[in-house]
Amino acid sequence: MDGKRFAGGTSKEEIESWLEENNIKPNEAPVSAEVGKFDFEKKTVMLNSGYEMPIMGLGTYSLSDEECYNSVTALLKSGGRLIDTAYMYGNEAAVGRAVRDSDVPREEIFVITKIYPGEQFANPEKAIRDALDKLDIGYIDMMLLHHPGENDVKAYLAMEKFVEEGKIHSLGLSNFYVEELEEFLPQVNITPALVQNEIHPYYQENDVIPYIQNLGIVVQGWYPFGGRGHTSELLGDSVISEIAKAHDVTSAQVILRWNLQKGVVVIPGSSNPDHIRENLDLFDFELTNEEIQQINELDRHEKHDWY
Ligand SMILES: NC(=O)c1ccc[n+]([C@@H]2O[C@H](COP(=O)([O-])OP(=O)(O)OC[C@H]3O[C@@H](n4cnc5c(N)ncnc54)[C@H](OP(=O)(O)O)[C@@H]3O)[C@@H](O)[C@H]2O)c1
Repeated sequence: MDGKRFAGGTSKEEIESWLEENNIKPNEAPVSAEVGKFDFEKKTVMLNSGYEMPIMGLGTYSLSDEECYNSVTALLKSGGRLIDTAYMYGNEAAVGRAVRDSDVPREEIFVITKIYPGEQFANPEKAIRDALDKLDIGYIDMMLLHHPGENDVKAYLAMEKFVEEGKIHSLGLSNFYVEELEEFLPQVNITPALVQNEIHPYYQENDVIPYIQNLGIVVQGWYPFGGRGHTSELLGDSVISEIAKAHDVTSAQVILRWNLQKGVVVIPGSSNPDHIRENLDLFDFELTNEEIQQINELDRHEKHDWY
């Protein structure tokens, strides 16, 4: 327990006593047993903030304004409701425009954005107001710190104030692992509702995921297909392709379903409406425990980005 990382099988009692020893404050709302459970009928998960979030959606990293607008529009038309953007992606305004232009009621849509270390963490109120202005959708469903970094606690405490004002509904972190969370959590008041980290079959985070989930925090994976430049290797992996063939689905769908069955929310990136539709179609098949295990064995601890 005094090591840097908790093993995957750490018991609930061990986690609870660690929380107590480290004086980690529980979220204001008591964490109910429902928090973190995936509802495969409704395709949502209950967050510790009391809000429901869809368990699959769209990532918008590297999408130009036009691609982003078209992709978000395609997502919403196909029944998807979860969108991940960030200040760094430069496309918050395009996301907001697509949300405003759609026929889908605002309250059914869940938009995540992020603020970035450096200037934004040093002046977080301005960064948050800028995000609200660019998105222009009334409130932000969830805001994340994009990375750990100087002034991250200050930036998070500023986000907490916007939660009190109802301008942000839920808070989260990105690129935080066990060591970073151990240091960060005792310094803030609202337990994050979500942590978004790199997760794919070649970089599985099998020790970190249960640690985060045991804190009542939902895990979301970025680069589900390994990220651009790596997708053909991952989607062409023979183990994944064989499983896809057995279920008459695509490799992309197998990877996304593997995430969901591990309790990991997925936000695949795409600028192709056919892929966007395919990536939402994950509920007419189920992987067996053996298939999950086969994919678990593909882990190479191979990170595809620096953070
Ligand atoms: N917090 C962070 O630090 C961080 C870092 C990186 C990413 N993210 C988030 O995670 C999201 C996902 O990552 P990503 O978009 O970079 O990479 P990704 O989802 O692993 O891969 C995207 C690539 O997969 C292709 N693709 C999508 N669906 C497909 C399908 N059904 N069949 C075949 N190919 C498919 C896309 O091509 P098409 O366009 O042709 O569909 C695109 O080239 C990002 O968009 C972003 O929102 C967060």
